[in-house]
This record gives sequence, C-alpha cells and structure tokens, in this order.
Amino acid sequence: PRPDLDPRDVTAVLDTVLDFTREELERAGVNVVRDFALDTPHVLADEGQLRQVFLNLLRNSREAMPSGGRLTIITRPAEDAVEVTVRDTGQGMTEEARQHLFEPFFTTKEGGTGLGLAVSQQILQAHGGSLSCQSIPGQGTAFVLRLPRA
Ligand SMILES: Nc1ncnc2c1ncn2[C@@H]1O[C@H](COP(=O)(O)OP(=O)(O)OP(=O)(O)O)[C@@H](O)[C@H]1O
Ligand SMILES: [Mg+2]
Repeated sequence: PRPDLDPRDVTAVLDTVLDFTREELERAGVNVVRDFALDTPHVLADEGQLRQVFLNLLRNSREAMPSGGRLTIITRPAEDAVEVTVRDTGQGMTEEARQHLFEPFFTTKEGGTGLGLAVSQQILQAHGGSLSCQSIPGQGTAFVLRLPRA
C-alpha cells in the first residue's frame, strides 16, 4: 500500500520497536547500543510501515547472532535525509547472498519466507528513500536506510 506520509521522529519509532523486541533480544544474548544523533531531524514516513522495516532488520540481526552479539543502531542527519544504520556482529553473508538478499523469496533460513528485505526495500523506495547493505562474512552486517527529511 502507498505510504501515508507524516513528519515522524525516527528515534521514537526505533525506541518503540526496541521496547517491543527487548525480551527476545535479551534472551538471545544480544546487546543493544543506541547511538542516536541529538535532535535527529524528522523524516517523512508512514509510522506503521517504518516499524515493520525496523522489526525485519532487528529480527534478521538477531537470527544472524545465534550465540549473541552486539546490535548497534545509529542515526545521522544528512543534507536532505536521515540515515539510520543497523549493524550487527553476526555471521555476515556470502557474496552470493549479498547479491540476492532483496529479491522476494530469497532465503537461507529453514522456514524463512525471504520476504522481509524485499518488502522493506519496497517500503523505503515508496518513501523516496533507500535501503542498502554491507556485510563481511564472519564479522557482521550493516544495513543503511535513508529517509527524506520532513
Ligand atoms: N543481518 C543479517 N546477517 C546475515 N544475513 C542476513 C541478514 N539479514 C538478512 N540476511 C540474509 O538475507 C536473507 C533474506 O532476508 P529476509 O529478511 O528477506 O528473509 P528471511 O529472514 O530469510 O525470511 P523472513 O521472510 O522470515 O524475514 C536471509 O535469509 C539471510 O540469508
Ligand atoms: Mg528476515
């Protein structure tokens, strides 16, 4: 569905999703580090869709760290956008996975649907933003999300 765009505080949306996932992250031994810029500018976003994107990214990170690790969430203002980085110290992915991870139904997980990132990227694009990924096998993965400023 088309996003219903309103000025939003992305750090507040992140806090909501982190509260919602706190128990599952704790249970998985995942340490959360919040590195939010002071006065992060508002973005134009559909709050429900943005929550869904962050939930997908946090769950993927948890699943990539089966014996725990660190999840770092960074917000930074850019000229006409706000950048959010979600970085984990998980298993990372192969070059092959990196090339296909935004394709619908691409999954390396038993019981995975492979829709999480395809839907997330589609949501960001419909916002006039973007979602990209960097990953190093054995070291971790970072997703960088850009949203237009309000
Ligand atoms: N943080 C991450 N670290 C390592 N690999 C990842 C990470 N996030 C995604 N991936 C890889 O990208 C694939 C696609 O992710 P996506 O979220 O689209 O689907 P999924 O997690 O497999 O299934 P689901 O539909 O339940 O989310 C994953 O199967 C995994 O191989
Ligand atoms: Mg997923």
